[in-house]
Amino acid sequence: MLVVPDLSAAAAAAAERIARRCEQAAASRGECAIALSGGETPRALYARLAADPFRRRIPWPRIRVFWGDERGVPPDDPRSNYRMAREMLLDAVPVPVDRIHRMPAERPDREAAAEAYAALLRAHLPQTADGWPRLDLVLLGLGDDAHTASLFPHAPALRETRRAVLAVDAPHLGMTRMTLTPPVLNHAGEIIFLVAGPQKARALRAVLEGPRQPDAVPAQAITPVDGSLVWIVDAAASSALTHRV
Ligand code: 6PG
Repeated sequence: MLVVPDLSAAAAAAAERIARRCEQAAASRGECAIALSGGETPRALYARLAADPFRRRIPWPRIRVFWGDERGVPPDDPRSNYRMAREMLLDAVPVPVDRIHRMPAERPDREAAAEAYAALLRAHLPQTADGWPRLDLVLLGLGDDAHTASLFPHAPALRETRRAVLAVDAPHLGMTRMTLTPPVLNHAGEIIFLVAGPQKARALRAVLEGPRQPDAVPAQAITPVDGSLVWIVDAAASSALTHRV
């Protein structure tokens, strides 16, 4: 875990790790496949990646972009994770359009849309020995209720062992969602949690220092199979932790 003073410093640290991972994957296998997160926290990170030095340093033509989750809204909706990432990052860097894979969470045929996205992952990503698509890098956030991606407390999706992508309900948010499932997230080469703000302190303590109960604390379901897991958190979010090393 890396504790830094504030969101700006967290974005800087995350940008550096992402750049390194992109360079390594592009050098070793010709491309780097990343899954972006949504919400507010990654905005500062995306803005930093869209600016120099990262704009010049990252091999954007070799980057393939997926999402960890998406809201059930059209791509031009202000709540869309795709729209946010496009406006904060993708419109400013040369990632080829056919390498940007939006999650079609607004489609009425939700199950078919989720299966189609899973097929995209399988088509474009190397497979692990046990048949899961392997992302090089996954960026995740943490909700005040300790949810991550669109894996909410007590949701059946938390116990998924077969499917890579699910359409899920989020009645408490008044919308539907689509999300990658724990097996796909956990087979990634690297997982970065970016967490900032005092409102996240209780959830972060529950995840890192609380009893192991992933059904109630979904971010605990993120345990990499053989990849690395990095927590980049600011001082406010780490304020309730007993151990901050
Ligand atoms: C989303 C996200 C979600 C997010 C957390 C934290 O679509 O909302 O992917 O999992 O990471 O809710 O959101 P904030 O950064 O806005 O606090």
